[in-house]
Amino acid sequence: MTMKAGVGLLSSLILFLLIGAVFTQRPRPKKPTRRPATTRRPSVPKPVTPAALEPQEPTDFPPPILGPPSFFPDCPRECLCHPSYPESLNCENRNLRAVPVIPQRAHYLYLQNNYISELTAEAFNNATDVRWINLANNRIQKIDKQVFQKIPALLYLYIQRNQLNEVPSGLPTSLEQIRLDRNRISKIPAGAFNKLENLTLLDLHYNQLSDTALGKGTFKDLKSLMQLNLAHNVLKKMPSGVPSNLIQLFLDKNRIEDIPKDYFKEFTHLAFVRLNYNQLNDKGVPKAVFNVSSLLDLQLAHNQLTVVPLFNTHLEHLHLNHNSIENINGTEICPCETQADLVDDSLVPRLRYLRLDGNHLHPPIPMDVIMCFRHLHSIVI
Ligand SMILES: *[C@@H]1O[C@H](CO)[C@@H](O)[C@H](O)[C@H]1NC(C)=O
Ligand SMILES: *[C@@H]1O[C@H](CO)[C@@H](O)[C@H](O)[C@H]1NC(C)=O
Ligand SMILES: *[C@@H]1O[C@H](CO)[C@@H](O)[C@H](O)[C@H]1NC(C)=O
Ligand SMILES: *[C@@H]1O[C@H](CO)[C@@H](O)[C@H](O)[C@H]1NC(C)=O
Repeated sequence: MTMKAGVGLLSSLILFLLIGAVFTQRPRPKKPTRRPATTRRPSVPKPVTPAALEPQEPTDFPPPILGPPSFFPDCPRECLCHPSYPESLNCENRNLRAVPVIPQRAHYLYLQNNYISELTAEAFNNATDVRWINLANNRIQKIDKQVFQKIPALLYLYIQRNQLNEVPSGLPTSLEQIRLDRNRISKIPAGAFNKLENLTLLDLHYNQLSDTALGKGTFKDLKSLMQLNLAHNVLKKMPSGVPSNLIQLFLDKNRIEDIPKDYFKEFTHLAFVRLNYNQLNDKGVPKAVFNVSSLLDLQLAHNQLTVVPLFNTHLEHLHLNHNSIENINGTEICPCETQADLVDDSLVPRLRYLRLDGNHLHPPIPMDVIMCFRHLHSIVI
């Protein structure tokens, strides 16, 4: 029952996020720039959309909220600067349309939940020590390359829930985490992730990436990458050239039909693989492809499998719900053949959690299978 409640909560959360995404992605009229655009060429006029369809400006962009006078003379009026946190600049939820001029002392920039549509370099002229930037939930479409030259020590860049069409170029090589999820990214410029040797997290979920957008060399320099999230894109193939130190690979909600036989061979630390909501059938899943001894959690829900794929005895969580599984062959999924296996605990499968609901199971699961999974904690049928 708790399981069901959890799933219900998750789906309402997903629904909530979907509504949020639709809400924040309404087309906006282009605003005139507020500062003189010294380096930009005059832009080609865009075709005008009928005014009647556009949301009205005043309701769209409420005026920026100004804070009280600050202890710090360099604190932008639109932000809060706490005397006890001189390295933080809190400008979130202030109806901002542009990044204020960042004072030199700032290491942590909180700029999320505003109406910022463009990042220009001037605001960052003095921001040489910035480590973290949170720009989530703005309307960013454009980022000057020079922005990143001004902030060479940047570690975290959170820019999810914006309107980017491509991965920004010129990212600082110091980066450790970048969140680009919930944009409209369909393109990764060549070399966008080159030299990011310390990047551990790359989140690109909920974009419009197709197989052609991911070249063989896209991820090649990401030697430290541990988490790669490409869920909710339009991939038909497994991404190639994924760094072998990866721990977590999320590919849910794509259109993947098959997995190359040796796809997971090179990975030595891979523990979490999610391929829920794809188009995998038995033919697309080579027999031992998931026999990876580092794997702890494998999620293959909402695909088209009719048999339980072979998995390693180290696997602890297996999600196979909502496939087309009709029969379970006990000797295949739990090969506890000899009495010795049962005596030597290290040979007993470590499976703790198994989901098989939403399949077409005819006979009940054989008792010897249940007995074989001696560590099984819960099973959802
Ligand atoms: C940058 O910092 C210097 C020295 O602290 C200051 O004189 C200058 O006005 C600052 N520039 C901006 C754009 O804030
Ligand atoms: C990566 O991290 C190491 C250790 O913190 C550091 O010495 C190195 O300079 C970093 N690399 C880049 C490109 O920032
Ligand atoms: C699965 O991998 C283990 C090593 O982790 C190996 O001993 C076993 O033979 C493999 N099984 C198959 C069917 O490939
Ligand atoms: C289960 O799988 C084993 C090994 O592949 C095979 O020998 C056996 O006939 C299968 N049993 C059933 C009932 O299909």
